[in-house]
Amino acid sequence: KSNAMWGGRFAAGPDAIMEAINASIGFDKRLARQDIDGSRAHAAMLAHQGIVDVKDADAIREGLLTVLSEIEGGNFTFSTALEDIHMNVEARLAELIGAPAGRLHTARSRNDQVATDFKLWVRGQMDAAMDGLEALMRALLGQADAGADWVMPGFTHLQTAQPVTWGHHMMAYVEMFGRDLSRFRDARARMNECPLGAAALAGTSFPIDRDMTATALGFDRPAANSLDAVSDRDFALEFLAAATICAIHLSRFAEELVIWSSAQFRFVTLSDRFSTGSSIMPQKKNPDAAELIRAKIGRILGANVALLTVMKGLPLAYSKDMQEDKEQVFDAADTLMLALAAMEGMVRDMTANRDALEAAASSGFSTATDLADWLVRELDMPFRDAHHVTGALVKMAEDAGCDLPDLALEQMQRVEGRITMGVYDVLGVHNSVASRMSYGGTAPVQVRAQIARWKERLA
Ligand code: ARG
Repeated sequence: KSNAMWGGRFAAGPDAIMEAINASIGFDKRLARQDIDGSRAHAAMLAHQGIVDVKDADAIREGLLTVLSEIEGGNFTFSTALEDIHMNVEARLAELIGAPAGRLHTARSRNDQVATDFKLWVRGQMDAAMDGLEALMRALLGQADAGADWVMPGFTHLQTAQPVTWGHHMMAYVEMFGRDLSRFRDARARMNECPLGAAALAGTSFPIDRDMTATALGFDRPAANSLDAVSDRDFALEFLAAATICAIHLSRFAEELVIWSSAQFRFVTLSDRFSTGSSIMPQKKNPDAAELIRAKIGRILGANVALLTVMKGLPLAYSKDMQEDKEQVFDAADTLMLALAAMEGMVRDMTANRDALEAAASSGFSTATDLADWLVRELDMPFRDAHHVTGALVKMAEDAGCDLPDLALEQMQRVEGRITMGVYDVLGVHNSVASRMSYGGTAPVQVRAQIARWKERLA
């Protein structure tokens, strides 16, 4: 026989190159557990419906457990000639239990089988991503809690803008990762329909019970259209899309950590556990984990683009192109989980340098907006005039090589005669942040309220 599975139709076996391009076992062996779970549910349903007798189905279900323990114990020889995980498992089952193994594939195709296996795997990764995100958010909440009222410079264009609080900055990332979490949650709810029983593309003439297998595998319901069920890879694309956006957030934060841990900023000190040294420069402590997290987005976005490109223009139903879905998603998932874990560790371990943050917050004329607001409030100036007066004062301080609070009252009065001592109250960074009381603003009271809301949501 030229092929164990379809030798009936074939006189010759495949060319070695054909085998090499065709086989997926090198990577889809990662679906072993999902494949066996799916097959066990299918066999139980076939017996329940009287399609296969109970004795044979029991032998199949038992035999599959043996195959699983062989695979997980590393005592399984995968064969490239058997193409993929589905045929490797089935062939081994036949060796173990003989003829009844041949009844397992009744009312099923590898098309609905692989869609089911892959969905189960991706669903598990969505859960893992949500766990990883929650752990990271808890670490961020810890940082925010500790420094809810520590002041630091807030930036726009990476130029000093206005003072903000450390807690506020940490909580900005909690919001971002919170949206990532909800993206995975939404995608998981949408994808949770079972393809099994769609068979090759048209459904089957056997009296199967698709609700039974769907329930057994933790799906909410069977997928409603058999053509769509075997052709759909939206769940993988949504996973990659959510992973890409999450990786962008990780990358932006990683970039900040790289900047903040530099000698020029010294906003944070990363722990030794998440840093590396240099082989030549003894003083070096490098933020390699942050740099790698910043870079990992490339692989995840690459996987996203690759699978979108594979799926674009595929006619219904199954095409072998879709076998290219797995390596991309496997790599993206591995990369994302590692990046989340590394970020969580770095955040948990890092120390924010309160003094350096405050010193930086107090420089760069960060309270210029507060001064302009004071002129509006106290002298009833139109904001545009106040902006102009403040600009002149900033110029004066800059020329004198000092900051705004260092200007003497007489100096300020040369620009605007009505300025009084009261102005100094708003030039201090603590008063500045405390005054930003609007909902979502940087005032410590608002930040603490935000922390409390997230703690409740994550509890
Ligand atoms: N290895 C295949 C894949 O990953 C399994 C499905 C094969 N189906 C088929 N009709 N050739 O997509």
